[in-house]
Amino acid sequence: MNSVISFLKQRRSVMIRTYNPCPLPEIDLLSILECGVRVPDHGMLTPWRIIVISGKQRKNLGKYCLRTEFARLNPDATKEMLEFEENRFTRASAILCVISKPVTHAKIPKWEMQLSAGAVCQNLLTASLALGYGAQWVTHWYSYNDLMIRTLGGNPDTDKIAGFIYIGQKTKQPNERNRPDLSKIIIRYGEGIEEGKLK
Ligand SMILES: Cc1cc2nc3c(=O)[nH]c(=O)nc-3n(C[C@H](O)[C@H](O)[C@H](O)COP(=O)(O)O)c2cc1C
Repeated sequence: MNSVISFLKQRRSVMIRTYNPCPLPEIDLLSILECGVRVPDHGMLTPWRIIVISGKQRKNLGKYCLRTEFARLNPDATKEMLEFEENRFTRASAILCVISKPVTHAKIPKWEMQLSAGAVCQNLLTASLALGYGAQWVTHWYSYNDLMIRTLGGNPDTDKIAGFIYIGQKTKQPNERNRPDLSKIIIRYGEGIEEGKLK
């Protein structure tokens, strides 16, 4: 079978908690980023940015933003919970944050620009997995946090975090997860589609 098809049919995200967070070689990071920006983008508006969080900045961002915001939003948080937030990013070798940054355009709707940001996330994830890394696309609570969006250079009024792609060295193979049953998801037009039928 074609190797790309065979890879895509078996592709599986790897849970962050299983990573060895050793440094990500620059050459691999650049390959992943190149794949990330090679996505469908109507009108070539590049309505997204990728922020690389690695090395000491993983802890710095955790301390400045995750810990403080988690404490503010959860006054009953325990010391352990706050420590977890501070160190959250250090569980991965690198984290790539994709920010959807729509621009004003006479013809191209914002929705299409946001979809393109999702495609960036998927390509970053796929490229990382294809290189043999563990990787996962998550949003968690802090994607919806204004301080996080501002700290990463976004404007909370107009921009949205599409996701954080965690990348780390794989320490074990992930278990398979249930996949959608094609017969329940795919409908062939012409075989009895009526308005309102999709469930
Ligand atoms: C936009 C988006 C946000 C997600 N956020 C989270 C999250 O916050 N926490 C989580 O455990 N999984 C989250 N997931 C799900 C996982 O990353 C992933 O879909 C799941 O582990 C299975 O991935 P796989 O199909 O690549 O194996 C998110 C997925 C998407 C598309």
